[in-house]
Amino acid sequence: MELEFEYFNEWARDSLKLDLSAYKEKQLQRRIGTVMNSAGAKNLREYAHLIQKDEKVRRLFLDYITINVTEFFRNKEIFQEFETVLTQDLAKRFGSLRIWSAACSIGAEPYSIAMILDRHRIQGASILATDIDETILGRAREGLYRENELKNLTPGDLERFFTQEDGHYRIAERLKKTVTFQRHDLLLDPYEKNLHAVICRNVTIYFKNEAKEDVYRRISDALVPGGVFFTGATESIYNPAGYGFKKLSTFLFEKV
Ligand SMILES: C[S@@+](CC[C@H](N)C(=O)[O-])C[C@H]1O[C@@H](n2cnc3c(N)ncnc32)[C@H](O)[C@@H]1O
Repeated sequence: MELEFEYFNEWARDSLKLDLSAYKEKQLQRRIGTVMNSAGAKNLREYAHLIQKDEKVRRLFLDYITINVTEFFRNKEIFQEFETVLTQDLAKRFGSLRIWSAACSIGAEPYSIAMILDRHRIQGASILATDIDETILGRAREGLYRENELKNLTPGDLERFFTQEDGHYRIAERLKKTVTFQRHDLLLDPYEKNLHAVICRNVTIYFKNEAKEDVYRRISDALVPGGVFFTGATESIYNPAGYGFKKLSTFLFEKV
């Protein structure tokens, strides 16, 4: 099986432009095994062939291995800390903010940031929101959510930031306008520069240490001095100075 995975990784890099070798092995192999079985393929070569020729199988594969779980204001207390830094510090120091929500899934994260900016009447900010998964970005652009995806929002938020449509909630057009969605692979694509805040949460947990460290270094390079990096609740950085960061709190780091 080991050799088969080596072959599959190489094939994925060449054919899908996907660097599977940077993801934690056991976890990834388990997920690939499950999705391969459900496609009815007997081995990875056969599965690669199926992915190649059938768009639907390819989409299912990408959706399954990229784990899209997310929430608006995920880990509320921590998001509150980010809100304070964003509105009381960054907005005052930098004026027009350039913000990047990396690995944004269905858009709950960048739209949460757009809500904060709207509540505080912070104008001129732009939010770039990226993910490796085109299907999920389609949902993010559409901005239509089920009630169970909105659990951290108050009735007031729902009224202010959404319109109801057949039991679903559609994000307000003025919030949509502040967010640009783009496909971006954190492992293979170049990063933006001169950003004031980068939010990259709950994705590096799937990467091997070397890949994770590389992502942190590149995020640091993407920020202006004084810019802030917001990590996930299980992804605190133990040697921030090694990446040119100063620790502000457990999950917030300032570029020195
Ligand atoms: C668990 S979700 C996290 C969503 C959001 N950041 C949050 O914390 O709620 C992980 C996201 O990472 C994306 N992802 C996985 N590998 C990626 C990569 N190499 N580059 C960019 N995004 C990736 C997945 O498609 C998925 O949407």
